[in-house]
Amino acid sequence: MRISFLECTRCGEHLSADRALNVCPKDGGVLFVRYDLAKLKGKLRREDLAGRVASMWRYSEVLPDASPVTLGEGFTPMLPSREFAGVFIKDEGLNPTGSFKARGMSAAVTMAKHYGLTKLAAPSAGNAGGALAAYAAAAGIEAHIFMPKDVPLANRMECDYYGAHLTLVDGLISDCGRMVAERKDKEGWFDVSTLKEPFRVEGKKTMGYEVAEQLGWKLPQGIIYPTGGGVGMIGMWKAFDEMEELGWIGAERPKMITVQAAGCAPIVKAWDAGKSVSEMWTGAETFAAGLRVPKAYGDYLILDILKKSQGTAVAATDEEILAATRHWASVEGVFAAPEGAASLVAYEKLRASGFFRAEDTVVLFNTGSAYKYLDVIEAAEKKARPEPVAARNIGGIIGPY
Ligand SMILES: Cc1ncc(COP(=O)(O)O)c(C=O)c1O
Ligand SMILES: [Zn+2]
Repeated sequence: MRISFLECTRCGEHLSADRALNVCPKDGGVLFVRYDLAKLKGKLRREDLAGRVASMWRYSEVLPDASPVTLGEGFTPMLPSREFAGVFIKDEGLNPTGSFKARGMSAAVTMAKHYGLTKLAAPSAGNAGGALAAYAAAAGIEAHIFMPKDVPLANRMECDYYGAHLTLVDGLISDCGRMVAERKDKEGWFDVSTLKEPFRVEGKKTMGYEVAEQLGWKLPQGIIYPTGGGVGMIGMWKAFDEMEELGWIGAERPKMITVQAAGCAPIVKAWDAGKSVSEMWTGAETFAAGLRVPKAYGDYLILDILKKSQGTAVAATDEEILAATRHWASVEGVFAAPEGAASLVAYEKLRASGFFRAEDTVVLFNTGSAYKYLDVIEAAEKKARPEPVAARNIGGIIGPY
């Protein structure tokens, strides 16, 4: 749909979407895309979605009016858990490039192309870089990506093969972000960092539309979301408000749950202290690479959503995440990224504490595929148990024949 305007989430300023913008020029606030949903109400009904393309672009009326750069992202499976009745696993590992980052980058690159931008740059914990590289390749646009040097092998290789300009940094995503900020003007790069342009949220919000559509337009009691920069959580919350405006759902909302790794849990720390912004986490360390975000740009939005939804924030240790990864794989047949498996850890903790009851419908987000983390998971296994992995379930090597 035609964008009405961009709105600053801090000061409420309205800005034109006629040219590419990053954040609010006044206060650096995150910009949200606004459409004339009142005009759409009644014209677009939930039933109209039946039979549409099985990608996030099925919701085209609530996405920018531009020709999509698509690789088939979105409309991922909503799998009923085999272990817990009422629990669903939203399997984002099936997206192009193996993670939910595909949604945000499909939307961001679509608009970059629409605006005629030719050089994009982003810092990344890993998967966002891989997704940007793929969509930039599909759009014929240059991608300049900065990642910590110890990201999973798959992230480095995909950037290389997609033809991106990759810089590995001896540091964290926050250091990578600084490098993009320092160099972008001189190099003529447009910054597509998490929440520093308005369209990655637009792509990620489609997860909220899918949760509603796939659960028969009845929102669950809870959504557990592995939170780094928080774009998915922010996007889904925006989607719920939009769907209410369209008359597709009522005022009910799920409890939104942030799960973070214990080795980097700035949102959990801020939530526990009752703060509305987070502090930079020092010494961030976890094998769940996407959760190594020491300070989220949109922390004020994430903490506000946790509060408004009566949700909470939970930390999971690497040991718990590793055990959950194996458990999910062996019980559900879902080989999840460590970030996704952290959702299971959070669910079990929240059931044990009574926060969720057995009858609650809860959606656990598996945000990526374990196939992108094989080296990292194997290293974590070796650290956790000194006996070789082969001694566990693999019967050894026979041959040569
Ligand atoms: C697999 C995976 N899960 C979760 C996250 C965190 O995502 P967000 O920044 O949207 O909170 C990332 C970010 O890199 C990721 O790659
Ligand atoms: Zn502002």
